[in-house]
Amino acid sequence: MRILKNTAGAAALASSILAAGFGVAEAQPTDLKTLAIARGIDVGLALSSSSGGAAVDTVVTRNFTGFVPENATKWGNISSAPGVYSWTGTDGMLDFAQKYGMKMRFHTFVWHQQSSYIANGHTNGVAQPPEANKYTRAEAFTHMRNHIGAVMGHIKGRNGGQMHLISEWDVVNEAAARDSGNDDSQNLYGGMRRSTGNSVNLDSGLSRWTGYTQGETNDFDYIDSAFAIAHRNDTTARLVYNDYDAESLGKKSNTVYNLMAKLKNRKIPVHVLGMQCHWYIGPSNTGSSGAWDPQQIVTNMNRIAALGLDISITELDIRFQNPSDSTKLYQQRQAYETIMSICLNQPRCKKFYVWGLRDGSSWINSRFPGYGNPLLFSGSGSTYTPKPAYYGLIASLQTTSVRAPGARGAVRFTPAGPAYDIRGRQMKSLPAGPSSLVRKTVPAKAAR
Ligand code: G3I
Repeated sequence: MRILKNTAGAAALASSILAAGFGVAEAQPTDLKTLAIARGIDVGLALSSSSGGAAVDTVVTRNFTGFVPENATKWGNISSAPGVYSWTGTDGMLDFAQKYGMKMRFHTFVWHQQSSYIANGHTNGVAQPPEANKYTRAEAFTHMRNHIGAVMGHIKGRNGGQMHLISEWDVVNEAAARDSGNDDSQNLYGGMRRSTGNSVNLDSGLSRWTGYTQGETNDFDYIDSAFAIAHRNDTTARLVYNDYDAESLGKKSNTVYNLMAKLKNRKIPVHVLGMQCHWYIGPSNTGSSGAWDPQQIVTNMNRIAALGLDISITELDIRFQNPSDSTKLYQQRQAYETIMSICLNQPRCKKFYVWGLRDGSSWINSRFPGYGNPLLFSGSGSTYTPKPAYYGLIASLQTTSVRAPGARGAVRFTPAGPAYDIRGRQMKSLPAGPSSLVRKTVPAKAAR
């Protein structure tokens, strides 16, 4: 992000903002939550635990309308082996939502990481699973079907039904290749995350799902199936495709746009594009990842909205190089303010979630050594000090008047007409695995 010019004034303002401090007390008219509700936008954060203690609960419930488990509901944290489930983390999060009247985003079903037996053998995306651990295509779809069904069934069945606590579900996470290095828009699925072969050179994150489902020869149909299975388990569920570095314009966002367009056009039940937004300000030593451009984001959001999809900002954090200083903090404030303003100006941007509460416990600290400070709060112990970025969001919510209260509403998805696979063949029903094609529509080979 290259945004700042007046750094001297910025530093002064940042200092005065910091001096203002933040007391943990009753919600004020200027708290994030109060303003977010007035603007009709769901402002949330990732929670690493549902039992952070009273201080966390106070800051969270005072400022946010929703939350997403940072790790607790990932496949590997729920199920260590097929059919083996531990619901402690999930239930803790559901209890938190219920106790405080908050909504929860579910994160996540189909992903190449933190997926226990599915991702077995995954080491920085290079190692392949031992041959003995490889699933067949049919087995992989069975695991997917069973897992999504088990989780949604558990939540639905708990305490008389708690589906209403989940505002949306990350069904497929990060299926496009990092940087979509092998391109792109001309080749329908050219930019997708691969399983073997040349993708090792192009993308350090391989996808077991591509390999197990023979995705490269089956048009990545595991994605169709994941959405269809989730839809079958709850036809009212809002289903999300979630990815990173696809917010501005470029190869990866073209890949994601093409994927979303194809899914929508073929009547696959997907309702929301999740834009993760893991960004940086200032110089970066992290390659191209995290670069972003406000005008390009506006353009990209417009084309996604034109597909009839909602947009959720799902994992926003904006890191910068250590050490922190008031100039960088002010640049960061402007960045947060800008993206909130962009979201408020796009009617289909309905959720604004940051990836964590306080700088010290962000994933950035270990993942990008030398970088940090990406979130809205600093402090330690029971102190949660709002940063200039926090006040940037406040300012944006106070001064942007385009979003009317109540502008977002639940969308019930009922696909009109039949669904189609990627080759244009009508499907018997929404897919849940291989062999779901309507046979008679497959072109006959015998006519020669
Ligand atoms: O819980 C274990 C602990 O028992 C163990 O001692 C420790 C030792 O390494 O590891 C702990 O697990 C770690 C876990 O976070 C909880 O802290 C994992 O090693 C670590 O890999 C894991 O990292 C998470 C990462 O996803 C996994 O790829 C981050 O917290 C989490 O913020 C990050 O979130 C992802 C989103 O899900 C998807 N989008 C990108 C985003 C950032 O990478």
